[in-house]
Amino acid sequence: MIVNLTRPMLVFDDLHKSFGDIRALDGCSFQVRPGKMLGFLGPNGAGKTTAMRAVFGLIRPDSGQVLWEGRPVEKDTATRFGYMPEQRGLYPKMRLHDLLVYMGRLHGMSKGDAAASADSWLERLGLAERATDRVEALSHGNQQRVQLAAALVHDPDVMILDEPFSGLDPIAVDTMSGILREAAAQGKAVVFSSHQLDLVEDLCEEVAIINQGRVVVEGDVKQLKEASPYRRLEIDFDGDIGDLAGALDGVHDLVSFNGHHQLTIDANTDIRQFLARAQETGHLRTFSYTAPSLSDLFREAVR
Ligand SMILES: Nc1ncnc2c1ncn2[C@@H]1O[C@H](COP(=O)(O)OP(=O)(O)O)[C@@H](O)[C@H]1O
Ligand SMILES: [Mg+2]
Repeated sequence: MIVNLTRPMLVFDDLHKSFGDIRALDGCSFQVRPGKMLGFLGPNGAGKTTAMRAVFGLIRPDSGQVLWEGRPVEKDTATRFGYMPEQRGLYPKMRLHDLLVYMGRLHGMSKGDAAASADSWLERLGLAERATDRVEALSHGNQQRVQLAAALVHDPDVMILDEPFSGLDPIAVDTMSGILREAAAQGKAVVFSSHQLDLVEDLCEEVAIINQGRVVVEGDVKQLKEASPYRRLEIDFDGDIGDLAGALDGVHDLVSFNGHHQLTIDANTDIRQFLARAQETGHLRTFSYTAPSLSDLFREAVR
């Protein structure tokens, strides 16, 4: 792998990890650039959590390494990395403010700085009045907000978040999105795993898709879409869609519902004849021609 050492980058370099017969990571490689949020995608059991845990030494890879600014990360994780693990509900008995101060102290902050940061996070998350409540007394969404604050209280340069959006209501999703966007805009390296591909599409400039322990697609979302060999043609059409689609070259898929038709076609298929014919043979109300969605790319990648 060619690693550019002049710019800080988080590099997952050829990680392998087996648990008995299970190959959780099988040559997992990808890079996270500061300022560009990266969505880490993959089916259940693909190896996302294992790769993230490897950054923090929570699992020891059989081979491969994780590098930050060209060096193994071990010594940086305490102060420069923030981690939101998959399993929540850590420290349920602690009070919010105490927990955040504790996490700040763990990551090398002075007591005063940690307390100031805890205050500001609780304020920002709308939890200031609950500062002395125990974590377990909060709703799921609020517990997740606190988990996020716990990962960020020491203002890390690198943020690694394992399914931070799972189970959140739309308002909590907005809060979480806003904080991640702001972090990326400040030049932090942000990577998070998620199954909510619409959200990833809104937030992330870059994605890495892992399947069976190996990253199978990596790069700029826009470029990946443009480079796809497929396009999506959607029409609202009253008429004989079977006849119409039959006359078009390179149709891979047709899904029809209630006069709305979605066709997956070759990117180089010329659709002008198709549209003309649709207007001649029936009533064409709307049409759109777009690159595949991130969900389409995902399905293609893990098929
Ligand atoms: N500590 C472990 N012991 C045994 N198997 C594990 C362990 N951690 C993960 N695995 C297995 O490794 C594979 C990858 O898991 P994981 O990294 O959690 O996937 P993901 O986060 O993408 O859903 C799965 O088959 C999982 O069951
Ligand atoms: Mg996981």
